[in-house]
Amino acid sequence: MSKEEARLRLKSITIQNWKGFKDCKLELYDGLNVLVGPNSSGKTSLLEAFKFLKKALVEMESPYLSHLEWWTYRNIVYGNDETKPIRFELEFELPEEYTATYEVVFTGVGGNIKIAKEKMEIKKVVSFTKEGETLTIEYDRDFFEKNINIVNRRAYKIEQKRRIKVDFSYWSLVFISGIIPLIPIKKYVENEVELLSFFLHIFRPVREVFLLSPELKTQKKPLVSYALYSTKEFFEKILFIRHPDLVDIRQPKPHQSGYTLSERGENLAAILHRWFLQGGGRLPDRIERALQNLFPYFTLRPDITVDGRVFLSIQDGMYGARLDPPSIPDGFYKLLHVLTAVESEPSILLIDELENSLHSEILEYIVEELKNANITSIVATHSPIVVDVAGLECLQLLERTPEGNKVRRVENLEEIQRWMREKKLTPSEMWLYQLQ
Ligand SMILES: Nc1ncnc2c1ncn2[C@@H]1O[C@H](COP(=O)(O)OP(=O)(O)O)[C@@H](O)[C@H]1O
Ligand SMILES: [Mg+2]
Repeated sequence: MSKEEARLRLKSITIQNWKGFKDCKLELYDGLNVLVGPNSSGKTSLLEAFKFLKKALVEMESPYLSHLEWWTYRNIVYGNDETKPIRFELEFELPEEYTATYEVVFTGVGGNIKIAKEKMEIKKVVSFTKEGETLTIEYDRDFFEKNINIVNRRAYKIEQKRRIKVDFSYWSLVFISGIIPLIPIKKYVENEVELLSFFLHIFRPVREVFLLSPELKTQKKPLVSYALYSTKEFFEKILFIRHPDLVDIRQPKPHQSGYTLSERGENLAAILHRWFLQGGGRLPDRIERALQNLFPYFTLRPDITVDGRVFLSIQDGMYGARLDPPSIPDGFYKLLHVLTAVESEPSILLIDELENSLHSEILEYIVEELKNANITSIVATHSPIVVDVAGLECLQLLERTPEGNKVRRVENLEEIQRWMREKKLTPSEMWLYQLQ
């Protein structure tokens, strides 16, 4: 299965009681989404919601999420009200017109953040709900009635609703679902349904549960195992970046400083060095192409110090100089940070304040690159250039309201675009004067 096929597309996210968001739904565009709004309208907070989900669901170090960068639950819950739960609901597009929703509820009375409930529902097929030590598997009634007879003849015990006690109550369903082996044991091709065996053997003796699943013909995989596995992959591959740490990014770094690009680019040189070696002395095309376009007089070469740490080095062909990290321009690092993020194929890429350090020509190039890249991205900006290059059809407008931060798309898009052409207005003029 190629990486392309394994990707879920996020259609929307509903955010409740997260920082300034009391109850808000973001409907995503395919590709680039540009988040605009005044200061403190929640742009950073919205992007951080994804970062929080990744940390809480797949990177958690202890059963209680007590050591997060936001310090306490109080700081991340709307109005600092610790008694309120934080809730997210994500809607995904699956292959062959299936859809799924994933819901997670966090609580934090007393400061310890816990996952109170998770529900993963593959629409019109089956849902998995985990609350404490109970996992409930419930089939859609129509799906169950249509398929159960065939399976019953084989004497597997399958009920429409089944409760199982789980031993791994601390771990998220997302985390567990990625490591549970789901094995197709029998194919019922005539009915396009497969039977899976599902082993609960993470920490305790094996317990086997049988599951019914439609077959995904294009993937040659059972839908249920595909959906569970790709949901975990979605959360793992969330990538949040903001302006690079321009001091730290210049320090030589050990080879093994991670495979996932860090938020402020600290391991940028290590990642580029690895790609450079893998490419036989060439960086990925996307990066080579951008450098040729934007810095044609520079040749970039990742290099190594005598004690084996990696750093970036540039040959300036025009001035005949070799530039070590202290002499490399900030905008160059910024460009590389963003391009490396795109090239690492995240499930969703979140970029806060894209425009910092960038000249308009490079900024335009990056926005075009994000529009054409085959990934979903959300970019927060105050820059009219980003808005103009992206166009109104990518805008997500954020505002503060008495009911918390709200986001909306531009309504009557075609009508507004026609009017803009008549009046010769640019998208950024529209955004600044008309749309908010
Ligand atoms: N726990 C919270 N409860 C309510 N509002 C919050 C909370 N945390 C942050 N906020 C609001 O969110 C604002 C910060 O939003 P932020 O995402 O940084 O905005 P932007 O990036 O658009 O400037 C704060 O000024 C505050 O009004
Ligand atoms: Mg901000």
